[in-house]
Order: sequence, then C-alpha cells, then structure tokens
Amino acid sequence: MPRKPRLPAAAVYLLLLSLGLLLYVSVRGSQEELGVAGPSRQQQQQAGVEKQHQAGAADAVRTRNIKWKKRGRTKEQLTNPHDFHLMINNVNTCNSDTTVWLLVLVSSGVANFHRRRAIRDTWGGATPLASSHAKLVFLLGNPHNTDLQTQVVEESRTYGDIIQEDFTDSYMNLTLKSVMGLKWASRYCQRASFVMKTDDDIFINMPKLITYLQEARRSRWITGCIKQKKSFRPVNVPAGLPLPPVHPLFVAGAGYVMSGDIVRELYTASLNTRIIPVEDVYVTAHLARVIGVHPPVHDTRFTCGEMVNDDCDLVQVFTGHKITPERMYHIWEKLNPNGITSPCFDF
Ligand SMILES: *[C@@H]1O[C@H](CO)[C@@H](O)[C@H](O)[C@H]1NC(C)=O
Repeated sequence: MPRKPRLPAAAVYLLLLSLGLLLYVSVRGSQEELGVAGPSRQQQQQAGVEKQHQAGAADAVRTRNIKWKKRGRTKEQLTNPHDFHLMINNVNTCNSDTTVWLLVLVSSGVANFHRRRAIRDTWGGATPLASSHAKLVFLLGNPHNTDLQTQVVEESRTYGDIIQEDFTDSYMNLTLKSVMGLKWASRYCQRASFVMKTDDDIFINMPKLITYLQEARRSRWITGCIKQKKSFRPVNVPAGLPLPPVHPLFVAGAGYVMSGDIVRELYTASLNTRIIPVEDVYVTAHLARVIGVHPPVHDTRFTCGEMVNDDCDLVQVFTGHKITPERMYHIWEKLNPNGITSPCFDF
C-alpha cells in the first residue's frame, strides 16, 4: 500500500473503499460476461462476507445493548429473547431420588422416532443411564404437522424424555435447539455436574465417558473434539483476497461436555449474542468467549465427525458419529454381550 502522508486518513479510507467497490463491480461484471461465475468459489466468498457481516452485526448489537442498558431499559433490548413456548415438558426428569450427575441433551429431528428408539434401547436406556447417574432428554422443535405432533405427544407419555419448544424444527434452527437445551437444563436440571450436548445419530460409550468425567475438572470448562485441530482449513480462498475470518476454536456439535456451573451463564449470554446457524460454533466459541470459558479443551476421544470403521472402535472412544439405528444395536450387543465374551475384548 503506497503511503500518502499528506492526505487526511478519512480521505484515504474513502478512496480505498471506492476503489474496492469498483474492483468488485468490474470483476463481477467480467465474470458474468465470460460466464465463468464459478458457483462454489462465489458461494465461498459470499459465505465469508456474510460471516463478517454477522460478526460485525453482533458486535454492533452488543454495543447498542450496552448503551441501552445505561439508559436503564431491560426487556426490549434482547437480541435473542428465546421466549418460545414449551409444547412438551417433562419437568420431573431431574427430580429423582439420586442426584443427576450428567444430563445428556440429544438434539433430535421430530420425525426421527426410530433413532430415539434405538438410543433408548441401547446406550441411552433408563437402566444403563441410572447406573451412571445420568439422564437423557431429546430436544425437539415444532414440526407444524398434526400427525407427527400426535405421535410425539404419545411418545412423550410413554417415555417421559421429550422436551419440545415452539420454534420451527429445521436444520437452520439447530442453534435454537441448543439454546433451548441450555435454557431447559439451567431451569429444570440445575444440579447436574455435567451437561452433554449430542445428536440422535451418535453412539455414546457412557461407562468410559463417566469414568473419565469422575476424575475431570468440575468447574468452568467445555471439552470435545476441536475441529480446527483436525485439518480444518478454509479452502478456495482466491489469491490476493483477504482470508475469510476463521472461526474461533470450537468443539464439534456431535458431542461436547460442559461443567454444570456454566450452563445458566451460557444461556444468559445467548440472549444478547446474535444467533448464527452453526450450533457448535455459536455455543462453544461465541457464547463461551462471552462468559470467559474459551478455548474449549480438545480430546480426541470425542468425534469430530469421522466415520467409525469398526464397531469395536467404540471401546476406545466416548462418541461415534453417523451411527444408524440398526448399527446402534449391533455396537451395543458387541460392547455388552449377554454372558459371553465380548468380541471387542480378545484376551
Ligand atoms: C426458525 O424458527 C423460527 C420460529 O419458529 C421461524 O420463524 C423460522 O422461520 C425458523 N427458521 C428456519 C430457517 O427454519
């Protein structure tokens, strides 16, 4: 950048801005003319720009809120009030005789009845969980579908493990689902030492996880698999353009654990932190930063999304990703054989 010390700074910025705009317009124009508007590259760039916008907007909102606070307002200033009505609640989940030590929040699509069933029949069943002093609830949104809703109400009556809030159940709303989990846990399961967030296609090796957590820190931390440590890099960044902003370190949403003492703080932070549609980045990086528990602690025994090659691999790790309901039963049987030696322990 040539230095022009005589020009006032504002003029330089203005000049650069218009130059940039000109360049953008002309590049776009020529790309369209030539018909080479590579969709993937453009989308990548756009995604980067959008992220920048979002981050900028979030900062702006935060500053605005601080200003408003100074004027003494409290209610209408929230960026994300999260005041969705609870359509299904099972308030007594954590009011058992024994303390709930670990609460597992399973983000689940409303229509995934078979996945929830497989979890209940295997690692997430009442009996295995009870021996670990753990509880599990499934987090659902609103399907806006009468048949599905009727089935879910029935399912909740039978199993008592459904929590449902009145926001549209969709992939883009997964962040709302995690916030919902934080809100529910901080209200109805306050005494849990640990809270885990996972999905309905994850197999969890509960005994191994519990054994680990018993020796682990109890206060102010989040642990999981940090994606950036597993060759997670932005691709297709055109030369000469600034790199898109890299996410702050975050752990994969497939399974992460936080100490119970930060759950309410994370929820409160969400009320004034702009939602982004990437649940794990939002909770374990953005919210975690707001409350000062960043970065999370990397542990390779949580999955970062890689495939599980062999069923017996689950012996060594806490979580396995992309497990079909059928496979959940297979893995469960291999890890917990009835009376015979497990094929996963050949000694
Ligand atoms: C998320 O849920 C809200 C509240 O129900 C809804 O207005 C919005 O359209 C949903 N967004 C998506 C992308 O589904």
